[in-house]
Order: sequence, then C-alpha cells, then structure tokens
Amino acid sequence: LHFCLSVFLFCIILFLSLPLSLSSLHLYRQPFHLLNHNKSDSCHPQNHIVFLKTHKTASSTILNILFRYGDSRNLTFALPANMYSQLYYPNFFLPYFVEGVNPRRVTEFHIMCNHMRFKGLEVRKVMPVDTFYFSILRNPLSMMESLFTYYKSTQAFHSFKTLQDFLLDGGQSYNASFPSNHYARNILTFDFGLDNSAPVNKSELVKFSTSLIATVESNFHLILISEYFDESMVLLKHALCWTLEDVVSFRLNSRSEKSRSKLTPEVAEKVKQWSSLDWHLYQHFNRSFWQRIDTVLGHAKLREEVKLLRARRAELEKICLLGGGAVDPEQVHDSSVKPFQYGTAVIQGYNIRPGLNNDTHHLCQRMITPELQYTRAMYTKQFPDLVPPLKNIDTIRAKISISTELLETCDL
Ligand SMILES: *[C@@H]1O[C@H](CO)[C@@H](O)[C@H](O)[C@H]1NC(C)=O
Ligand SMILES: *[C@@H]1O[C@H](CO)[C@@H](O)[C@H](O)[C@H]1NC(C)=O
Ligand SMILES: *[C@@H]1O[C@H](CO)[C@@H](O)[C@H](O)[C@H]1NC(C)=O
Ligand SMILES: *[C@@H]1O[C@H](CO)[C@@H](O)[C@H](O)[C@H]1NC(C)=O
Ligand SMILES: *[C@@H]1O[C@H](CO)[C@@H](O)[C@H](O)[C@H]1NC(C)=O
Ligand SMILES: *[C@@H]1O[C@H](CO)[C@@H](O)[C@H](O)[C@H]1NC(C)=O
Repeated sequence: LHFCLSVFLFCIILFLSLPLSLSSLHLYRQPFHLLNHNKSDSCHPQNHIVFLKTHKTASSTILNILFRYGDSRNLTFALPANMYSQLYYPNFFLPYFVEGVNPRRVTEFHIMCNHMRFKGLEVRKVMPVDTFYFSILRNPLSMMESLFTYYKSTQAFHSFKTLQDFLLDGGQSYNASFPSNHYARNILTFDFGLDNSAPVNKSELVKFSTSLIATVESNFHLILISEYFDESMVLLKHALCWTLEDVVSFRLNSRSEKSRSKLTPEVAEKVKQWSSLDWHLYQHFNRSFWQRIDTVLGHAKLREEVKLLRARRAELEKICLLGGGAVDPEQVHDSSVKPFQYGTAVIQGYNIRPGLNNDTHHLCQRMITPELQYTRAMYTKQFPDLVPPLKNIDTIRAKISISTELLETCDL
C-alpha cells in the first residue's frame, strides 16, 4: 500500500511540475516555486522585493509596510535619485534613476517600491535574480472617480465639470500625447509599462488585452487586489514567508468621505469602455487572486488570518492613535507626518497618542509616516552626505506642486 501511495504521489508531483517547468521557460522572473520555498515545507523570509506602486490603489499603505520591514532590518532600498525624482515617472524606468547605482555606491539592493513606469528588462539590471515581484490593482470603476477628483487639473479633465461629462465626450477632446493625460485612461496598463491607448477594433482589443495579461504574468509573481486589501496582505504574508506583524498597517493616503461620490450604472458602463484595458486586466487578476487563495490556503484559513490581522490592527490603533483613527489634515498636530495634499481631495492623517514609551512611540511613528517623509528618511539613512538640508514639509510641498508628474501620493 505504501509503495502504491508513493508511486501515486510521485506521478502527481511529476504531472504538476511538468507544465510548471515548461511554462517557466517563458518567464523573465524566477518561478515562484524556486524562490523562497524549500523541498521541505519550511520557507524563509523573502528580502529581495520589487513592488510596482500603482496609482490610486492603496499602494501607499503597502509602501509603508515595505519601508518598515526594510528599515527595521537595515535592508537597502533602491530609492529615486535626488530623493524626490519619483524615478522620473512617467518615463520608462532606467537603472540610473536609482540613487547609488551610478557611481556604484550600493552593491546590493533589497527592495524597490517607489512609483515608476515599469520596464522589466531595466529593473532586473538593478535587482538580484531571486527578487519577488508584486503589485496591486483596483477596480477601474471606482478608480476613475478617484482619478477624476485627484487629477482634475490635467488637460484631459480640466474642461469637464463632472466625470459623466468627460465620459459622454467619448474621448473627442482627449489628446493621448499631452503630458499627464495618461492619468485619464488605462493608468494601470500605463504603469505596467504598456501602451495605454486601447485599440478600437474589438478583435484587436482582445488580442492586445491577452498579451498585456501575459506580459504582467511573466514579470510578476503576485498581483494583489485593492478591494480585498486584508485578504491581499494575508496572501502577501504567505508569499513572502513573513509574519502577521510584518503586514499589519494603518490605511495611509486615504481620501476623506467628503470628497467621494458614487458612479451611476451608465457611467460605470462608459468607464469599462473608456479604460477597457484596465478593465480586462482587473477582471483577469481578480479571478487569479481568488484561485491563488484557493490553492495556497483555502477560504477557512483565509478568514481566520484576516480576523487576526484586523484584531492586531485594531489593537495598534488603540495603542498608537489619538482618537483611535484618521483625522482631516488640518487636525494633524505634527506637521512632519502631515500627508501631502493635492487637488480637491482631502487626504487624511493621524495623531499619535502622547505619553507612549520610546519603543512604542517609534513603532507608531513609523506606521503613520507618509510616503514622501519615509522616502526622505530612508534616503537620509543610506546617503547621509547627499541629502539636501531639511526644510519643512510645506517647502517640499511647494516644490513638488510645480510639476504634476510628481503628484503620485494620494491613493483612494
Ligand atoms: C533551504 O533550506 C536550507 C536549510 O534550511 C537553507 O540554507 C536554504 O537557504 C533554503 N533555501 C531556500 C531557497 O529557502
Ligand atoms: C541597524 O543599524 C543600526 C545602526 O548601525 C544598528 O544599531 C542596528 O542594530 C541595526 N539593526 C539590525 C537589525 O541589524
Ligand atoms: C496633442 O498634444 C501634443 C503635445 O502637447 C501636441 O503637439 C498636439 O498638437 C496635440 N494634438 C491635437 C490634435 O491637439
Ligand atoms: C479588426 O481587425 C481584424 C484583424 O486585425 C480585421 O480582420 C477586421 O476586419 C477588423 N475589423 C474591423 C471592424 O475593422
Ligand atoms: C472579483 O472576484 C470576486 C470573487 O470571485 C467577485 O465576487 C467580484 O464580483 C469580482 N469583481 C469584479 C469587478 O469582477
Ligand atoms: C526616550 O526618548 C527621549 C527623547 O528622544 C530621550 O531623551 C530619552 O533618553 C529616551 N529614553 C529611553 C529610555 O531611551
């Protein structure tokens, strides 16, 4: 019986690994099963990571998770040259956009997570071969409303009073080659480094979407879904072999309810047509996300771990936050952790409870530190001699608002 069972198992393993190793021939990235999982069931924590930070997808919260993880272990970040260059988004990524690549002051980068327009070939020149690549998508329907509010001043949107007006125009006054107009159409596709102007012809659209999905799959090990943020964190935790403590976070760069509105079904239908590539992308990866949940841990285990994550977050909110939650920016007392504001969106922030002991205060402080400030802190740690003198955040803000290209900070 034992023998039969072994033969049977062997055959199953052979059967499962055959298509896997064949398909991995096409992959640019190292296949997931070779990455951080041993033959035995144990795994070890993944320290080489690329996170493609997409727009308006809760990605700032993930950035904070990665910064804290790397910061507490003294890992090295591939940071934007000159600190605030945002890796020269929306240009395609190039290695020399990273501080320390040229001249070679850093010999090993562990984590790259600032905004960029992805280009796999170039990113792989900077990062080690066993790097784990992941990103996050959000439903293009709710995203569109968010983009319209946040990027209202871009050429594509500025002459329209409402999102509905913009969509009813059917792209007649849309000029794809105008700077910053990529925010208005298929922004996810754009961030992944592909052409965001969808073909009009239906069969060509399907063909292009299929190749878009294949390209993303060949470059990334995992695609998370913003609507299922906590489930995403549980899946990420398993994929990276991290602990619950590593993936717990407060929601950062979240928009106040004041500046939100809902889409009507007609407008939603128009968005699906307008940002058709993003819509295809989202639907595919929403499906594969749930398939991944099924194969990696199953729904019962997922629910259990999501519950633990939420309990820990609630506990930390109680410990860390004055008032137990987010507040509007004018109520943030410490200007050094005030989130960057732009457009008509109101980006909320946090206040830390006074009287905490130093270690707790330090943890809480890191959990509420927004993207620009954390990027500066990591840059200062890695390149103390290059960092420009500290001006207050309003000066940084004034400098950044000169160029809309740099306005990558609000998420939802
Ligand atoms: C596999 O396990 C061995 C011993 O525990 C360890 O040295 C090695 O780094 C592990 N490899 C991977 C890819 O996890
Ligand atoms: C990180 O670096 C600091 C300063 O050099 C050091 O005090 C600390 O022990 C290091 N932490 C780890 C986890 O290596
Ligand atoms: C679109 O924008 C580009 C870049 O600003 C400009 O050169 C071009 O003339 C515009 N096209 C139309 C039709 O307005
Ligand atoms: C769409 O493209 C396909 C192949 O490129 C072509 O055969 C077909 O005629 C096109 N259809 C329309 C309506 O233009
Ligand atoms: C995403 O997947 C979930 C689970 O299958 C499903 O309930 C939901 O409707 C999907 N979302 C979209 C926009 O397709
Ligand atoms: C706590 O931090 C304060 C201010 O940074 C410092 O003066 C104090 O010595 C620290 N206490 C301990 C126990 O580290």
